[in-house]
Amino acid sequence: MAMALSTEFTELLGVRHPIVLAPMGGSAGGALVGAVSRAGGLGLLGGAYGDRAWLERELPIAAEGTDQPWGVGFLTWAIDAGAVERALEFNPAAVMLSFGDPSPFADRIRRSDAALIVQVTGVDEAEQAVDVGADVIVAQGTESGGHGARRGRSTLPFVPLVVDLAAPIPVLAAGGIADGRGVAAALALGAAGALIGTRFQATAEALVDPSVSKALIEGRGQDTERSSVLDIARGASWPTETYTARTLAHPFLDRWRGREAELAGDSRARQDYQDDVARGAIPPLPVWAGEAVDLITDLPSAADLVTTLATEAEDALTWAGRLRPKDDPRAGS
Ligand SMILES: Cc1cc2nc3c(=O)[nH]c(=O)nc-3n(C[C@H](O)[C@H](O)[C@H](O)COP(=O)(O)O)c2cc1C
Repeated sequence: MAMALSTEFTELLGVRHPIVLAPMGGSAGGALVGAVSRAGGLGLLGGAYGDRAWLERELPIAAEGTDQPWGVGFLTWAIDAGAVERALEFNPAAVMLSFGDPSPFADRIRRSDAALIVQVTGVDEAEQAVDVGADVIVAQGTESGGHGARRGRSTLPFVPLVVDLAAPIPVLAAGGIADGRGVAAALALGAAGALIGTRFQATAEALVDPSVSKALIEGRGQDTERSSVLDIARGASWPTETYTARTLAHPFLDRWRGREAELAGDSRARQDYQDDVARGAIPPLPVWAGEAVDLITDLPSAADLVTTLATEAEDALTWAGRLRPKDDPRAGS
C-alpha cells in the first residue's frame, strides 16, 4: 500500500486522503457520501436548497453509511437556518456553504462540532470566508461543472492566490480536477486537497439517470458552456446576474444564447421548455459538467475512484519533473 498524502486538511478532518466529494445538489446522495467517506475521502451530501424531504431521506443514509467523517453542503443564498439545524442533528464532521453571504449561518456552524467549509469564486468572497472564520476554504475555478461565478477565475491562477490570502486556513482546489494528476496539481499549487464534482457524478452510487452517466462518459470539455439560459428556461431561482452554470450542450442554449433577458420575459418559451421535458424531447435537468469531462471514460464505484485518485496523485507527485526509468511502463507517457 502506497504512503498516504497528508495535509493540513487531512489532519483537521481526520480523513485518509485529501479528496473531497463536492456536495452536488441532488446527485451527491447518502450512498455516494458513505462510499467516499468509507474509502478515506470526505463525502459531502448535496443538500443544495435545503429541501426537507430530500434531507430527511438522504441524511440518515449518509450518517448510517459510514463511521468515518462526512459532511453536508448547502447553497447559502437558498437555505434557511432550519436546514442547517436539521443537518447538524446528524453530527456531520463538516458543513459547507457555497455561493452567497455565509455570515447568517457561520456562527451557528462554528459553535457546533462541524468544521465550516466555505466555497468561494473570487477574491472578495475569499476575504469574506476568512472574516467569518471558515475552517476550510474551497477555491472554485470556472472550469467547474455546475454553478459558479459569472465572472469567475481559472483554477490554476486562482488557487495559489487564495492559498496566500487565506493562510494558514487550508484551501481546497475545485474545478477541472478529474484524475490523480489534477489532485497532484492542486497540492503543488499549495492547496491542502481537491474538491471534485463532475468526476464523482459518473460513479455507480451517484443519484443520476443512466443517460447522464452516458453523457458524461461521452462528453467533451469543448462542448461544455457556462450560461444562465437553462436556469431561466427551467424557472430556477438562481441569482443569474451573479451565477451561471457549466453544462453539456443543450438545444435551448443554441436557441437562446445571448438573449437571456428576452427569455426571462417570455413565459411561452419557458412553457415550451416544460413541454419539451414532458414529451421527453429534452432531459428533465441540464447535464451539469465541467471542462475535465473528457477525462471521464468509465463508471467506477466511488470507492475505486477514491483509491485510484489517491494512488495516481501520489505517483504524479513522485515523478513530476523526474525522468522515469526506461523500464517503467509509463516512461515517456
Ligand atoms: C452536477 C453538479 C451539481 C453541483 N451542485 C452543487 C451544489 O449544490 N452546491 C455546491 O456548493 N456546489 C455544487 N456544484 C459545484 C461543486 O461544488 C464544485 O465546485 C465543482 O463540481 C468542481 O468542479 P468539477 O465539476 O470540475 O469537479 C455542483 C457541481 C456539479 C457538477
